[in-house]
Amino acid sequence: MNTIMFINKTYIITGAGQGIGFTIAERLASQGAVVFLNDISEALAIEGAQKIRNAGGDATPIAGDAGDVQFIRHMVDVAVEKSGKIDGVVANAGITTFGDFFSYTPEAMQELLQLNMAGTFFLAQAAAQQMKNQQQGGSILLMSSVVGVQSHKYLAAYAMTKAAIQMLARNLVIELSPYRIRINTIAPGATITERTMAIEPEYDETWSNLTPLRKPATTNDIADAALFFLSDQAGHITGQTLVVDGGWTAVSPAPGEAHFKEVKQG
Ligand SMILES: NC(=O)c1ccc[n+]([C@@H]2O[C@H](COP(=O)([O-])OP(=O)(O)OC[C@H]3O[C@@H](n4cnc5c(N)ncnc54)[C@H](O)[C@@H]3O)[C@@H](O)[C@H]2O)c1
Repeated sequence: MNTIMFINKTYIITGAGQGIGFTIAERLASQGAVVFLNDISEALAIEGAQKIRNAGGDATPIAGDAGDVQFIRHMVDVAVEKSGKIDGVVANAGITTFGDFFSYTPEAMQELLQLNMAGTFFLAQAAAQQMKNQQQGGSILLMSSVVGVQSHKYLAAYAMTKAAIQMLARNLVIELSPYRIRINTIAPGATITERTMAIEPEYDETWSNLTPLRKPATTNDIADAALFFLSDQAGHITGQTLVVDGGWTAVSPAPGEAHFKEVKQG
């Protein structure tokens, strides 16, 4: 990829104190972008932005809840106030709540919907409104999951939100294309992050066995796809979902394997 692709471009990435979001922010900044790094944890937002600045990048922490509509609008205002514009956003923040369907609670559902669906929708809305005003186009990237297209035990509610995110990108092609705003989605498969390793210490080994390419994704694998979608190289691509899963969704697991074992996946 052309390394000057993101010079003088401004991006907001939510849920980026660690994991996939952090790597996307780090990689954008390393290629010249100005990044606004959001996390609900103030400590992680500050620490993440500091790491990027230590490496010579331009990063500003914005701590707050990416599921809170007032905060989302404030976050876009702050970025525009400091940078004069935004070129793209990554609606990356999302929670994964595992739960037996029969005992899944309304409270867990509400929390999940508020961040994964409302947070994603209203960040896209706030960013698109700003990009429409700027009249320079822009790129919006949403974070889905392989479980938005293939079933996985105990992830019914989460899977529903991730499938909805893919449809949101497809639907908004109609309203955003007239303003040259592109909107796409990445559906990561099992990815090694601080969270997935904490949930399951054997995560790497488990998913190496379950994945045709014999390894789970790294956050850089997902960031490679993210930078492509955000760049002008994807200038004629909108409304699409790219699955980055080492082949997992291409293969139907045999009964007794992934679907029926106590295997966790984010
Ligand atoms: N890791 C995987 O295997 C995987 C697979 C498929 C999809 N995804 C999706 O990719 C995205 C990132 O996943 P991850 O594993 O890197 O994330 P993660 O769970 O490690 O979270 C990243 C950051 O988000 C922050 N966060 C949590 N709630 C927030 C909120 N309300 N507002 C702002 N920040 C918040 C956390 O503090 C954390 O630092 C998520 O949408 C997830 O659903 C992840």
